[in-house]
Amino acid sequence: MMRTIAIVGGQWGDEGKGKIVDCLTAQADAVVRFQGGHNAGHTLVADGEKVVVHLIPAGILHPQVTAFIGNGVVLSVESLRKEIDGVSAHVDNVESRLRISQDCALLLPSHAALDQARELRKGAKAIGTTSRGIGPAYEDKISRRGLKVHDLKDSRVMTEKIYELLDYHNFVLERYFNAPPVDRDATVQQLERSAQWLRPMMTDVSSEVQSFIDNRKRVLFEGAQGVMLDIDHGTYPFVTSSNTGLGAILTGAGIALSQVEHSTAIVKAYATRVGAGPFPTQLHDQTGQLIASRGAEFGATTGRPRRCGWFDAVLLRRAHQVNGFNGLCVTKLDVLDELERLKICTAYRSQNRDIEDSSTSAYALENCDPVYEEFPGWLQSTRGIKNYRELPENAKAYLDFIHQSTGIPIDIVSTGPERSETIYLNRSMHAFATD
Ligand code: GDP
Ligand code: IMO
Ligand code: MG
Repeated sequence: MMRTIAIVGGQWGDEGKGKIVDCLTAQADAVVRFQGGHNAGHTLVADGEKVVVHLIPAGILHPQVTAFIGNGVVLSVESLRKEIDGVSAHVDNVESRLRISQDCALLLPSHAALDQARELRKGAKAIGTTSRGIGPAYEDKISRRGLKVHDLKDSRVMTEKIYELLDYHNFVLERYFNAPPVDRDATVQQLERSAQWLRPMMTDVSSEVQSFIDNRKRVLFEGAQGVMLDIDHGTYPFVTSSNTGLGAILTGAGIALSQVEHSTAIVKAYATRVGAGPFPTQLHDQTGQLIASRGAEFGATTGRPRRCGWFDAVLLRRAHQVNGFNGLCVTKLDVLDELERLKICTAYRSQNRDIEDSSTSAYALENCDPVYEEFPGWLQSTRGIKNYRELPENAKAYLDFIHQSTGIPIDIVSTGPERSETIYLNRSMHAFATD
């Protein structure tokens, strides 16, 4: 049986990772986040009840699971506190099951202020960030200015570092952006308070997760965002500030990739994107609106409407090239139930030439037109179907084309937001989730 599985987003985020993680952790021992921060919004629906998590791994909802936040995550203690309180309304022992890397970079209120000031200044050229401070927090980590979780252990060291860092942040805020400064003492006090409750959770995530693996426990690695938002391999500059692919497991949790037995990219049966940036298959017509309303496509973190469009096999091939996925999980198939005709992008046309393998740079994508393969819709409900054989033939043909055009076999198909509304095609994954 498989014991270690990784899931990451294969598009621009919001592919339904939360639901799939929830399914795959029903019998798991541990779940690990390894990148991103509270820009993520992962939605789970259990018995009709909706829960959204941002920093805490979605697997926490199962009471036997230990949830790890690896060093690659940027941690806002303010957001984490709110989330612990929120999740505790749904499941017990959240604090005692939450293990946080001492090496996580801290995301401070001044990072959010910088993010917002920068976006405001950019005006029409804004990236459309979640305004949570993700970019500035990663910048400070890379430039070696930032604070890490272990700095909270020594109040004197922490205060000194905050003073120095906020000196710099406030200089930029006031002098460059003409924005109000952030109170240094308020930041120190907030972190001092959080140091008390955070301390028992601080750990060496790499070693603890490794011992779960050594003891043949079931471990799930939970990605946030999606490959097209990757800082290196996404549609730069319209990306987030972390690596969002499988490589981030090594750098962001300290676990060797050779120990991950199976990796699955989660993709929607269509495509969405929230925020600015190129989206070659975006629909600006009624079909796009129908998908948005049937799919309830509003951001789980910011509430912004998501842009909707056709499934893009070119970009998924590229995501596969840089990750080498073992399988695919196709979600939200049911959202397409009412469409008479469907399209999948198989190539881009640029200067009268068809390109089947595109670079993902924003520049390349802005200067091309998608080439489509068309499919008849199935015009019947697939909502809640649990058995592949029960899917309409046209839905099977559509899914088969996704497999054929990307070369990635399908592990799971999701036919609704509930845990139970899931088809497992990969037996080992089914066993991981249920046995
Ligand atoms: P994540 O960020 O990848 O975890 O995805 P989000 O939670 O931001 O967005 C996915 C949305 O789709 C959530 O509201 C889920 O409840 C919902 N969802 C997930 N899978 C399905 C599905 O198969 N069908 C439908 N209709 N909704 C789904
Ligand atoms: P989950 O984990 C969708 C997008 C933002 C913006 C860009 C940069 O729920 O799939 P940032 O705040 O990270 O600097 O914003 O990235 N973005 C997401 N889009 N799902 C997410 O997370 C996202 N996290 C960031 O909309 O375009
Ligand atoms: Mg989301």
